[in-house]
Amino acid sequence: MASRIVSTGRAVPRTAMSNNDLSRAIDTSDEWIRTRTGIGSRFLMRSGESLVDIAAEASRIAMERAGIKGSELDAIVVGTVSSEYGFPSFACSLQTVLGIDTIPAFDVAAACSGFVYALSVADSTIRAGDYRRVLVVGTDALSTMVDWNDRRVCVLFGDGAGAAMLVSEPGNRGVLGSLLRSSGKYWDLLSVRATGTRASFDSEIHRDPRDAIHMKGPELFKIAVKSMEEVSRDVAARAGVPLSDVNLIVPHQANLRIINAVAERLRLPPEKVFTNVEQYGNTSAASVPIALDEALEQKRIRDNDLIMLCACGGGLTWGANILRW
Ligand code: ACO
Repeated sequence: MASRIVSTGRAVPRTAMSNNDLSRAIDTSDEWIRTRTGIGSRFLMRSGESLVDIAAEASRIAMERAGIKGSELDAIVVGTVSSEYGFPSFACSLQTVLGIDTIPAFDVAAACSGFVYALSVADSTIRAGDYRRVLVVGTDALSTMVDWNDRRVCVLFGDGAGAAMLVSEPGNRGVLGSLLRSSGKYWDLLSVRATGTRASFDSEIHRDPRDAIHMKGPELFKIAVKSMEEVSRDVAARAGVPLSDVNLIVPHQANLRIINAVAERLRLPPEKVFTNVEQYGNTSAASVPIALDEALEQKRIRDNDLIMLCACGGGLTWGANILRW
């Protein structure tokens, strides 16, 4: 049996914040952010908003499009590092909001690679014959973990959720292969030591800078380019498909310069590269499924296309999935 994504959905917080909006609050500019990152705007959680509700909205859209009811799911796998609690997991909270009970629901923590990891795990459970219908979600709210005085970091992130319905199917469409990599020795390139302290740009809660996201941007930039290039090459080789046959790459949307550098090294022309970092910023584990949902909406993906998903994030973690749509 193969596993195939039959539908997707996405949802974001209500508040859009442009670079110009941000530059009224912190010492930055639209020009600096755009030229360094390609980001123009992002959606940010306000105090009182729940990321679980946003993930539930994305999940309901994906389930409705697939014509699958909550009671018909076999498992929920969530790529996230944004659970409101140490435990219960995000997936257990999401299961409850969706009104589903008893099926296994668990998180996969791989920061920005969360969705690529979660899809690989879900695909393996389907191939093993354990489950037939798995809801795979990527969701994060890293804007609630930044120090809003650290302009090198706080401008980069946005919040949101993307969901995909993965179902078992005979035939050769679906996930052809996944490849996951980690390198814990690079932990300090991107880290946050505290969880559970929810701050947001409009709240009175401010993170102690020691508890906020720490990032070594220039080092991370280089490793992100190299790792996403290599893992994309390797997953295609393992699946026995030439990279030149890839119709669309949907990479993690961290930074337009990273995406362009990866595409250039893979010799993929711009029309084969999906980007929406301009509107969303870096939404961490949500970025690949949000981008996938938009790519489908814009009809950039057709049946039988060869699709590459790839990501790199804190851990460090990186990985790729290759799919026959
Ligand atoms: N607005 C205005 N000026 C700023 C800002 C800002 N928001 N942030 C930093 N600056 C200033 C700095 O103070 C510095 O000024 P100085 O030269 O007077 O000291 C100058 O801009 C250059 O700063 P750098 O940090 O050297 O800028 P750089 O060109 O390296 O770009 C960036 C920084 C965009 C973070 C880059 O390193 C990068 O993209 N790294 C990858 C990080 C990333 O994408 N992380 C996301 C998570 S990982 C992942 O998802 C793959």
